[in-house]
Amino acid sequence: MFALNFNKIIMPIFYGKAALAEFLNSVKTQNSTIGFVPTMGALHQGHLSLMQQSLAENNNTVVSIFVNPTQFNNAEDLEKYPRTLEEDTQKIFQLNANIIVYAPTVDDIYEGKVISQNFDFDGLENQMEGKFRPGHFNGVGTIVKRLFEIVSPNNAYFGKKDFQQLQIVKKMVLKNHLNVNIIGCEIHREANGLAMSSRNERLSASEKEQAAIIYQTLLQAKEKFKAQDCKSVKQWVKDVFDTNTNFDLEYFEIADEETLIPCDEKTKDKNYRAFIAVFVNNIRLIDTISLK
Ligand code: PAJ
Repeated sequence: MFALNFNKIIMPIFYGKAALAEFLNSVKTQNSTIGFVPTMGALHQGHLSLMQQSLAENNNTVVSIFVNPTQFNNAEDLEKYPRTLEEDTQKIFQLNANIIVYAPTVDDIYEGKVISQNFDFDGLENQMEGKFRPGHFNGVGTIVKRLFEIVSPNNAYFGKKDFQQLQIVKKMVLKNHLNVNIIGCEIHREANGLAMSSRNERLSASEKEQAAIIYQTLLQAKEKFKAQDCKSVKQWVKDVFDTNTNFDLEYFEIADEETLIPCDEKTKDKNYRAFIAVFVNNIRLIDTISLK
């Protein structure tokens, strides 16, 4: 079998979709549910919290670990992305040995054609991450749709850390009439407020400490948004990062949570959210906060 043996306890791990599908068929019963947590590995507490929620809400939980080449618009970022399958499977095993791990090869997913499908996400793809990472969301849509076809989950768990991705996946599911519930999960943070991310591993201890400024700025922006208009809050954030030479602000945006259209004039019936992307020593970090 396809199993990892930790001290004689067997944990199912699959490298190919056919064997995974066969195994899932064998464990599925009429009323059982499959929860699914797609990841790119280098697992941290944020990923594990998604798995915990899936375990609590489903009979079976599948976790995929796959660094998806088509969603990287930057070759260096793809190359430097941490690949730590051994440690990842240990972490999953310690959380729950019944979790089913799918760690496919690029060929198992793309079958020789490493290209993205083109999606229309009704404009969600044109804002923020979509603007600064051309092709990124077509890559995300391609891999998530492919993984959903392979795993056939009832419920799939995505972090609000990548809020735009969460909305994109919801839209993809709606437009393709896929039969899966998309569940948005809260952001897990370090003690200093920095949103947990696989990319944080590339920060030095001092950069990690300094990066607390990202969440602190979001919290202050939220406070200011109560009394000020969108434009002033945006300008304030820009000024904060202009005076801080260790950080390079790529964007700060305030947008409607549903459409992701940037806020111009505040409207009462809309839920606004702030989004930020910042470079620290060439490492790109993103974060977001609800302004409600
Ligand atoms: P990855 O960055 O590994 O994230 C996997 C999932 O974990 C995503 O849903 C992400 O939003 C969530 N996540 C990451 N950090 C989190 C945190 N601090 N708190 C809560 N959730 C967090 O996102 C991807 O991979 C890929 O784009 C993927 C969806 C797997 C497609 O390749």
